[in-house]
Amino acid sequence: MDRITLDVTNALAAAVGPDHGVSPEELTDLRETAARALAAVEARRAQDLRWMDLPYANDVHDEILEYTASVSGRFRNVVVLGIGGSALGNTALHAALSSPFHDLAPPPGLPRLFVLDNVDPDLVGEWLDNFDPAETLFNVISKSGGTAETMSQFLLFRERLVQVLGEEGHREHIVVTTDATNGILREIVEREGYESFVVPDGVGGRFSVLSPVGLVSSALVGIDIKGVLAGALSMDEICREASPEENPALTYACLQWLMQERKAKNVAVTFSYSHRLRALADWYAQLLAESIGKRMSRGGEVVHKGPTPVRAIGVTDQHSQAQLYIEGPFDKWFTLLSVTQPDHSVPLPSAYPDLEGAEYLAGRDLGDLFEAEREGTRVALTEAMRPNVSIVFPRVDARSVGQYLMMMELAVALMGELYDVDAFDQPGVEAGKIAAYALMGRAGYEARRAEIEASAPTERKTI
Ligand code: PA5
Repeated sequence: MDRITLDVTNALAAAVGPDHGVSPEELTDLRETAARALAAVEARRAQDLRWMDLPYANDVHDEILEYTASVSGRFRNVVVLGIGGSALGNTALHAALSSPFHDLAPPPGLPRLFVLDNVDPDLVGEWLDNFDPAETLFNVISKSGGTAETMSQFLLFRERLVQVLGEEGHREHIVVTTDATNGILREIVEREGYESFVVPDGVGGRFSVLSPVGLVSSALVGIDIKGVLAGALSMDEICREASPEENPALTYACLQWLMQERKAKNVAVTFSYSHRLRALADWYAQLLAESIGKRMSRGGEVVHKGPTPVRAIGVTDQHSQAQLYIEGPFDKWFTLLSVTQPDHSVPLPSAYPDLEGAEYLAGRDLGDLFEAEREGTRVALTEAMRPNVSIVFPRVDARSVGQYLMMMELAVALMGELYDVDAFDQPGVEAGKIAAYALMGRAGYEARRAEIEASAPTERKTI
């Protein structure tokens, strides 16, 4: 099949037993709720959930490609200054769709991509020690336009650019992606005349990868963004039109809900059997955690909902976490990302025909070993009664990655309905941002600072 598919066999009671797997009755009981969830999310498509229509925004995609063409060959580096939903999608797309060694040896004419999604001085300082801002395009991304981490990085790099290129010259090294009208960053864009893109209304941070947030840096490093969008669009069509049983996003959302609410699986592990897809698991971790991890239900009841996302990489984590997964507590369910057709064939040579412990590998392909390891893990998980599903990519390409992004965004929106939480706010994140503003002495946050100081322990216990 020329699209990603969801194999749920090993999440069913028939495979892992009724205590851990979902029975046909449980799925049937959920059918009406699921259909209502789908209708509720679809009804919001043209209202506040504008991220659902991002794959259809052809004029924006053309604008991005025009801008990319206009700066082609001019920069050795592209640096994304952003955090959370304004960074994870950029990393995920680059990891999946550029060579794993792109940044060590970029293809001719293409820049390296750095996503500096932290304000650790040992990260930012080290970048400054080793790279030249004058050879760099900074893609400043912030939906709110005021996040302290991104603003501080912008101020820092802007000053470095002005020092070497002057007030006028520095402007060509900055491209901003932010809200159309709100936020300090938009005001700065207007004052400076920076090139800019818009995060549209109804597109929250973690649902923004298919907007200019994720697409500008991707196009700059040569990723086929039209392919990504075509994939996303095709998945959107499937999830709109298919019957609930054939809708992969809805099925995944139902499984997530059943696994946590009926089978006590509080941990959702994404186990990527693809080095290139590993950062999709990081992207999904944020999408799931920030969307479903909520204190309040939509009706205002205290519920403390939410699965804990965990990321693992196959085969690497077979030698690290798999022991726990197979024999530890029954509190997890697993999503294996697997790839049917790798891009490379890497045959193994024969060197010691008399040593069976080495010779059995000779003449086989590394892909055979990778697949055997993945299947081995799948069998071991299933035999140990650990429910698992597989998202199977025909190959890792722009289209299949776009399909995955859209499927998971839709699934998480549907989970919001099933868990009855607002999947699109993030009061916990906002609380952290406000506390940071207060502690940094930002005007308007004095009262919060006083509260934090008053509640600080008078004595610390340090060992
Ligand atoms: O998903 C979210 O809303 C958050 O993770 C934000 O993306 C993150 O806090 C950064 O916010 P902003 O893009 O406003 O700088």
